[in-house]
Amino acid sequence: MSKVLTIAVSKGRIFKDALPLLAEAGIVPIDDPETSRKLILDTSREDVKLVLIRASDVPTYVDYGAADIGIAGKDVLMEYEGDGLYELLDLKIACCRLMVAGVTDVPTESSRLRIATKYVNSARRYFASQGKQAEIIKLYGSMELAPLVGLSDWIVDLVDTGNTLRANGLAPLQHIADISSRLIVNKASMKMKHAAVKPLIDCMARAVAERS
Ligand code: ATP
Ligand code: PRP
Repeated sequence: MSKVLTIAVSKGRIFKDALPLLAEAGIVPIDDPETSRKLILDTSREDVKLVLIRASDVPTYVDYGAADIGIAGKDVLMEYEGDGLYELLDLKIACCRLMVAGVTDVPTESSRLRIATKYVNSARRYFASQGKQAEIIKLYGSMELAPLVGLSDWIVDLVDTGNTLRANGLAPLQHIADISSRLIVNKASMKMKHAAVKPLIDCMARAVAERS
């Protein structure tokens, strides 16, 4: 196993929010991911590299050991079915809620609800737990459109300020889960690279505790 520690993280809000926590562990990227086209970033630590991937791909890279560590939203982890990783730390960044949303909270007349979402597993589990029959329609984005054009009764999506729902005439209806980003670690790396992984987790845990 290589001595280099690889951390998978997605560009955008998670990267931005994770930067100060990584800095506490002495990890500062050399290039700015917003301007660089590189997918593997060197850092101020010779033994640590960051790989930039889509948010929903982070658990896959960590599960298969292509990255030792990852930072992924709980929403993404709730959808992921592999078991090659540990979820070790709530970083308390990129916080939002997974919710059912729609035009109105008056129950629809159909006995079988149609739900549009990219969170198929979470939606299926949630409606089953409520004893409701639901047909889940998989989408990859712009979920808010689905009820407006008759594709679905409701959607399951992330809500933070509620601005996106409001702008589209929708309202949050039911809370499914609180979401934040988690530090995940490949099971084999946890064992084989323990000497490098453990202090990194400890530093980040301290940084999270100091902020909250
Ligand atoms: P992908 O590119 O894989 O489709 P994405 O477009 O959802 O992912 P981002 O928008 O960067 O990627 O979101 C990354 C993570 O940030 C989500 O998985 C979620 O945990 C969190 N998140 C998403 N939207 C919000 C929001 N509005 N407020 C706070 N956190 C959010
Ligand atoms: C996310 C989510 C909602 C929005 C909620 O989208 O899918 O659409 O944020 O945030 P709000 O309640 O503060 O409006 P994002 O901004 O990540 O865009 P995306 O469609 O690229 O995922």
